[in-house]
Amino acid sequence: MTLPAVWLTLSLCASLQAAPPTRPLKETYRGYFDIGCAVPSLPGSFKETELALLREQFNSLTAENCMKPAPTEPRENEFRFAAGDSLAAFARSNNMKLVGHCLVWHEQCPDWMFQDGNQPAKRELVLQRMKNHIQTLVKHYQGQVVGWDVVNEAIDEHQPNGLRRSKWLSTVGEDFVEKAFQYAREADPNVQLYYNDFDIESPGKRKQVLKLITRLKAAGCRLDAVGIQGHYALDRVPLRNLEASIEEFYQAGVKVMITELDMDVLGRRNSGADLAMTEKAKPGAKPQAAICPPEILKQQADQYAELFRLLAKHRDKVTRVTFWGLHDGRSWLNTYPIQGRINHAMLFDRQCQPKPAFFSVSEALTRTSGAR
Ligand code: XIL
Repeated sequence: MTLPAVWLTLSLCASLQAAPPTRPLKETYRGYFDIGCAVPSLPGSFKETELALLREQFNSLTAENCMKPAPTEPRENEFRFAAGDSLAAFARSNNMKLVGHCLVWHEQCPDWMFQDGNQPAKRELVLQRMKNHIQTLVKHYQGQVVGWDVVNEAIDEHQPNGLRRSKWLSTVGEDFVEKAFQYAREADPNVQLYYNDFDIESPGKRKQVLKLITRLKAAGCRLDAVGIQGHYALDRVPLRNLEASIEEFYQAGVKVMITELDMDVLGRRNSGADLAMTEKAKPGAKPQAAICPPEILKQQADQYAELFRLLAKHRDKVTRVTFWGLHDGRSWLNTYPIQGRINHAMLFDRQCQPKPAFFSVSEALTRTSGAR
């Protein structure tokens, strides 16, 4: 090799090494929408590398479990705030927004709410407990959370009234949704209030959400945004329906958030995230590979990028995109809908290293199609 060639090679290597690392997602999407992550109580069991990744990439956190009704009020009027408080402290000291999830849901809700001794509780008692729960939580976290998922997953488009059969519906009646929003607003008029659900991209469920938005507005409730959960599966990301939903919800007068984004790469029958819809592994199914095949990672990267391009196009309507878990090892999809699988749903692998999907999402705004 001639001397100039050696110099060229050396300086090329040096410039490669000195190349700035890929920008954090929160910087790439600044001016578009917040980039969030769902987490348990922090620091909890999180390693320093995980905490560092959180601080580096995200500007919003959502309480994955610790602000839900069952952990926060396991017995009537006995509130547990320690886990949520430490999460709030982490968010505050790292200058991140915090989202409260969730006040009223048919899952992870304690049985006592609906019992009166040995009898099922009646409407007035359940409403009084709902009010006490909502208002205690909202007041406790006043000034610490930017918004609350007030009602989670209330819709079932197969029911004549469009509402999921739940204890909330059977004891209180259809207006449990309005009541929940009214109680939350009374407790803190400044906090944002959201309705959150899965599969609401599909036309049938979307129609019911639109009805709900109209109902809530007619009742004078505050509703800032609809959260589209975004639990997607590889090759089944409903881009067209998602775009229609974003546009229609926005036209109905609310902003939109993708609140629980992940992309399952293992096979499953159902879409969405109904906790009751667990599935069994096929008899004789091989244990899942700990390493995801590169061609799957590439497909996942392409599909995540397509999704982010669509969301960026609607930046005037979409205010936040939250991933449901920090990395593949922290995703609920390792246990849902089939227990004990090794899923690869997120942008970072189990060692907190960026996957092809991270790079494709980072480059989605500058590339028109395709990914690394
Ligand atoms: C999930 C959590 O990720 C799990 O850790 C927990 O065991 C069950 O709930 N829709 C929601 C979330 O709104 O609260 C759920 O979170 C996932 C589906």
